[in-house]
Amino acid sequence: MASVNGFEPRIVAFLCRWCSYAGADLAGTSRLKYPPNIIPIRVPCSGRVDPQWVLEAFERGADGVFIGGCHPGDCHYVSGNYKTRRRVVLLKKLLPQLGIEPERLRLEWISATEGQRFAQVVTEFVRELKELGPIVAGGDALRVTRDGQVQIER
Ligand code: FES
Repeated sequence: MASVNGFEPRIVAFLCRWCSYAGADLAGTSRLKYPPNIIPIRVPCSGRVDPQWVLEAFERGADGVFIGGCHPGDCHYVSGNYKTRRRVVLLKKLLPQLGIEPERLRLEWISATEGQRFAQVVTEFVRELKELGPIVAGGDALRVTRDGQVQIER
């Protein structure tokens, strides 16, 4: 995973099992090329992704967090992805307060048949994160306690 400037972003990807995870699988079985920077975590629905998980991923040093869900109207749990969309809007407002660029969090709708789109979106996200550089506010600066409290050390 070498790059020109030596920085390779680590991306925690929460992928809905019904769509985006299958899309990632299709990209793999179709032998589509995309950067290997993703750490995939399969979830039953994008709506299952607790905002605290996103903050914990950053706390543990992720340079980016990706959430992949079913297209609007296609969620197997009817409204899980709408909930996700609202949460991501709120998280993107919160992240700058923690010194984290909101662009480090990305939500995309990718179906099981969109392997090509998965590869394209991941490639684009990795390029954007390389331009942003390594995360600075994560790691030691940000703490998420067991009861979900966010603490920032400056
Ligand atoms: Fe895929 Fe809800 S089942 S986002």
